Amino acid sequence: MISILLARATTRLAVTSDSPRLDAELLLAHLLTTDRARLLVLSEDALPPAVATAFETLVARREAGEPVAYLLGRREFWTLTLQVNPAVLVPRPDTELLVQIGLDALAGTPAPRILDLGTGSGAIGLALAAERPDAAVELTDLSAQALAIAEANRAALGLMNARTLQGDWFGPVGDARYHLIVSNPPYLAVDDPHLATPELGHEPPGALVSGPTGLEALAAIARRAPAHLLPGGVLALEHGAAQGEAVRELLRAAGLRAVRTRRDLAGLERATQGTGRD
Ligand SMILES: C[S@@+](CC[C@H](N)C(=O)[O-])C[C@H]1O[C@@H](n2cnc3c(N)ncnc32)[C@H](O)[C@@H]1O
Repeated sequence: MISILLARATTRLAVTSDSPRLDAELLLAHLLTTDRARLLVLSEDALPPAVATAFETLVARREAGEPVAYLLGRREFWTLTLQVNPAVLVPRPDTELLVQIGLDALAGTPAPRILDLGTGSGAIGLALAAERPDAAVELTDLSAQALAIAEANRAALGLMNARTLQGDWFGPVGDARYHLIVSNPPYLAVDDPHLATPELGHEPPGALVSGPTGLEALAAIARRAPAHLLPGGVLALEHGAAQGEAVRELLRAAGLRAVRTRRDLAGLERATQGTGRD
């Protein structure tokens, strides 16, 4: 019976997951191609044996730490449903702060030019492209596998105002300049203890780890950004909660002004922005 299977799966997942009931319901609803609300209606039904076996497999994979988003093959971000696989970071709700900063910065700028560096699934750049149909958005990533997912998402969402480019940070854009440059780059140090958690262990190291200090990618982007900002353009970077002061210093050292850090809903310093010269 579905209610019993869900209860058993919830108990198993409670060891490794913060949201065991939700995870179990999402996995079962996915296999039954239905939604979580409908599971309640079906709770007294028996599961077909093939579905019960597939559910057991997914629960075991989740128990081993695989993110639910990889098991479902998709993740909600901002207003979008994005395809994801282990080549891309699972987009985080925290990163929606960068979308909001970008939209605020572009209010009053018609037909803005936007660059999303290290786009992964395309989350930030595609959310901005969806919100601002008048914008021209470029999405870059070093990883060809990640960029293939970003391109698949762009096409599936029909966002004709975005395009994907492969390469190292600003490498693929030549000397182009933008009203807004956003990035959620890798910002963990190689020895960061969070890397030992089961979920991060399933995500691509190139999306998480920056180098010995964790600040390497943030510094590389900050240093080169001023040459790619239009007059008054804004650079906005996501970073770790303990990196706010260091990132403010990187942006000031690069010559940006009006440098300030925004906090997430938990009150932690998670994104810093600066403005280019007029
Ligand atoms: C933390 S993930 C962010 C993905 C996505 N923007 C998000 O917020 O969900 C960082 C991304 O930067 C990419 N990346 C790492 N080094 C890079 C480099 N040198 N140039 C361009 N992209 C890079 C990784 O492949 C990864 O997709």
